[in-house]
Amino acid sequence: MEHIRTIIEPFRIKSVEPIRMSTAAEREASLERAGYNLFSLPSRDVMIDLLTDSGTGAMSAEQWAAIQRGDESYAGSPSFVRFEAAVRELFPFPHVIPTHQGRAAEKILFAVIGGPGKVFPNNTHFDTTRANIEFTGAEAIDVVIPEGRQPSLEHPFKGNVDLAALEALIVARGKENIPAVFVTITNNSGGGQPVSLENLRGVRAVCDRHGLPLYLDACRFAENAWLVREREPACAHMTVKEIVRAMAALADGMTMSAKKDGLANIGGWLAVRDDELARRCRNVLILTEGFPTYGGLAGRDLEAIAQGLEEVVDHDYLRYRIRSTAYLGDALRKADVPIVVPTGGHAVYIDARAMLPHIPLLEYPGQALAIELYREGGVRGCEIGTVMFGRKPDGTEVPAAMDLVRLAIPRRTYTQSHIDYVIEVVRHVASRRKDIRGYRITAEPPQLRHFTARFAPV
Ligand code: F0G
Repeated sequence: MEHIRTIIEPFRIKSVEPIRMSTAAEREASLERAGYNLFSLPSRDVMIDLLTDSGTGAMSAEQWAAIQRGDESYAGSPSFVRFEAAVRELFPFPHVIPTHQGRAAEKILFAVIGGPGKVFPNNTHFDTTRANIEFTGAEAIDVVIPEGRQPSLEHPFKGNVDLAALEALIVARGKENIPAVFVTITNNSGGGQPVSLENLRGVRAVCDRHGLPLYLDACRFAENAWLVREREPACAHMTVKEIVRAMAALADGMTMSAKKDGLANIGGWLAVRDDELARRCRNVLILTEGFPTYGGLAGRDLEAIAQGLEEVVDHDYLRYRIRSTAYLGDALRKADVPIVVPTGGHAVYIDARAMLPHIPLLEYPGQALAIELYREGGVRGCEIGTVMFGRKPDGTEVPAAMDLVRLAIPRRTYTQSHIDYVIEVVRHVASRRKDIRGYRITAEPPQLRHFTARFAPV
């Protein structure tokens, strides 16, 4: 009977934050001031902010209570002990190294194991992961299954690693040049798509054949585990916690941004099995983040994450979370808006290339659509396409594999009527899609250009 009822937000609201309503004229002026880069908008000019699900969620009453318990001792804080125990409850790695966010964990790990000539395979590297690898002179290579690159194709695990491609890459480049194999759960850049437990076992087998360590980029581990539970028949009887632990058992370590499935506004960690590697990583941690019992965080942040990790594996929460993402996706599909299917965990990805086929790829159809959603209704999404990935380390520009606009849903933050409003805005933009024009870049930095580039209409 459960499925015929609306799946309600499994929380009540105790504290509210006003949304400032803006006019079309105000939004037009904000866009011009921002150089048509939505990252440059003041957030008070945004009505529904779907730029990211990272650090933008609402904390629970228990998390705010835990914040008050935070112990700010420089060394040996009980807040670290609680944090470490909460991480190990899900990911029983011997060494848990707190960092201020996910990319700090990446920076530390790749500083230690990266370098010129090294190659890191991943289903799809997130942009900070790729940038931190390339910054050391190493190479980041994506080996997602071919289905994972086709937005309109249905497949339950579009985040899966192409095992044959991984094997071929290891043989071609030599296992001595591959310090680690990565798997990102869920595959954010590929549409928030999950990786099956079976596929992860396959990756482990390939790694074992070549004696390579396997690392998880586990930012959205709970959403991945819920989708495994729903879509992988062999796991239907398992709890989310059991699935997470089964994934952890296959890995040698992980990087994590607690701003996603840590349900916190800041934080992350690096966890490893290897004692010597942990020692070297802690040395870099002390140089760049802080003492090993707080990393780049306050004790109160460690408490918020510890509590968040208990809440994020709750089945009622995850059922609502995944269903509310699908709700947005289903409505857009019904309106003939092309999206990446099936809908993933944390976001709906509009296929801007398919929606705006008249815009040349180097005039950034994804950016054009993201701008239009803001112009229409103050909805801020994020281009994940040629602006983000088009500039190669050698300076050339080539279209990315896909031009998507991600509508990322902050955790426990917006209600169904906010999402209904977003649906209206997207539908309205879709109805006038033929009039939407492309953009050109007028200024850009050498790396991670999407954060600060400026644009002008073509
Ligand atoms: N890995 C993945 C898969 C991510 O999605 C992110 C962040 C990171 C690593 C880095 O973590 O931000 O804490 O340093 N993704 C955010 C996003 C920024 O909007 O998708 P961080």
